[in-house]
Amino acid sequence: MTQETGKRKADHIRICLEQKAQAKKATAGFEDIELVHRALPEVDREKISLSTSFLGKKFSAPLIVGAMTGGTEEATRINASIAQAVEKLHLGMGVGSQRAAIEDRKLEGTYVIARKKAPTAFLIANIGGVQLAHGYGLKEAKKAIEMIDADALAIHMNALQEAVQPEGQTNFKGILAKIAEIAGELGKPVIVKETGCGISVEDAKALESAGVKALDVGGVGGTSFAAVEYYRSAKGKTMVEAFWDWGIPTVISLVEVTQTVKIPVIASGGVRNGLDVAKSLALNASLASFSQPVLEAAVKGGKETQDLLSRLIDELRNVMFLVGAKNLESLSKVPAVVTGKTAEWLNIRGFDTASYAQRSTLSFEY
Ligand SMILES: Cc1cc2nc3c(=O)[nH]c(=O)nc-3n(C[C@H](O)[C@H](O)[C@H](O)COP(=O)(O)O)c2cc1C
Repeated sequence: MTQETGKRKADHIRICLEQKAQAKKATAGFEDIELVHRALPEVDREKISLSTSFLGKKFSAPLIVGAMTGGTEEATRINASIAQAVEKLHLGMGVGSQRAAIEDRKLEGTYVIARKKAPTAFLIANIGGVQLAHGYGLKEAKKAIEMIDADALAIHMNALQEAVQPEGQTNFKGILAKIAEIAGELGKPVIVKETGCGISVEDAKALESAGVKALDVGGVGGTSFAAVEYYRSAKGKTMVEAFWDWGIPTVISLVEVTQTVKIPVIASGGVRNGLDVAKSLALNASLASFSQPVLEAAVKGGKETQDLLSRLIDELRNVMFLVGAKNLESLSKVPAVVTGKTAEWLNIRGFDTASYAQRSTLSFEY
């Protein structure tokens, strides 16, 4: 890794911890979703099952920690904290872009620590989609998987970040064909994820046809990479600022995608509590993913990370109790009312929002 890349990664962590690198005017859209309270939940809170399976692996709850880091000493500590927590709780995690270690083997340990601390958890390797337009292919994808003995490979799309950073690579031509090639040959599932701008129905369809096995919508509403670049750039701030809230809000992207493709979908981008997770699952997400909030806990340690994730799971359990869902299958069928800008956008784009509200749980046995 060049000194430059090392500094960039350290900058990302520092900015995400110290600055408000979150969406400003845009929201993820969770405030537009209401789940309907049950005065008669008719379930035993303690017996609610949160377990699920994703790409063939069992999870104790539908939560993962999103891709964040690797390549530096601090990153090693962060990956270790997250890995320790997800192993204990039987969840999953992604490591940050592995480009640094693909190019400099000395840095492999900063990612490998995740597998060391999480020998059985679901681990997601990570490479950048834009690298595929600049010479990366099956060989690098395999390296990323083998490095951490990963269960899946995430290819991240970050057009906005590349567009607003001075050293950004902005030729994205040919990436879809490369994704298809890797998805067909890798022997492990490929997940395509956005990094804060969302995935549209148009792109979701193309990616499903390319053989991608899951999508992570990574919508607007949480960490904004335009904001991160705003704090990094010494000049040109105005240009970057204009894109602070660019993209498709998480909930909108989630509905567009889940109503269209058959592959599992991960909700991420501004997912901040167990209620957001419950709403995502009621809108048919398979998992929800947290990044920024976990980063804050992970710099403190593994125990703090585990405490945070346990609290989120507990909140999810509470919501399930209040809507009378005894497991995740029932949660995906509870009535959900879509209002505000989210409903407007979806209706204008031709998506159905009424049927979520008209679902009835009244067929429950009493
Ligand atoms: C410090 C930091 C570094 C990140 N690095 C990566 C990365 O290397 N690869 C990637 O796919 N996503 C990366 N992301 C994006 C996250 O995986 C996620 O999509 C995004 O932060 C939105 O989730 P949040 O609102 O919960 O933070 C990074 C996020 C943060 C906060």
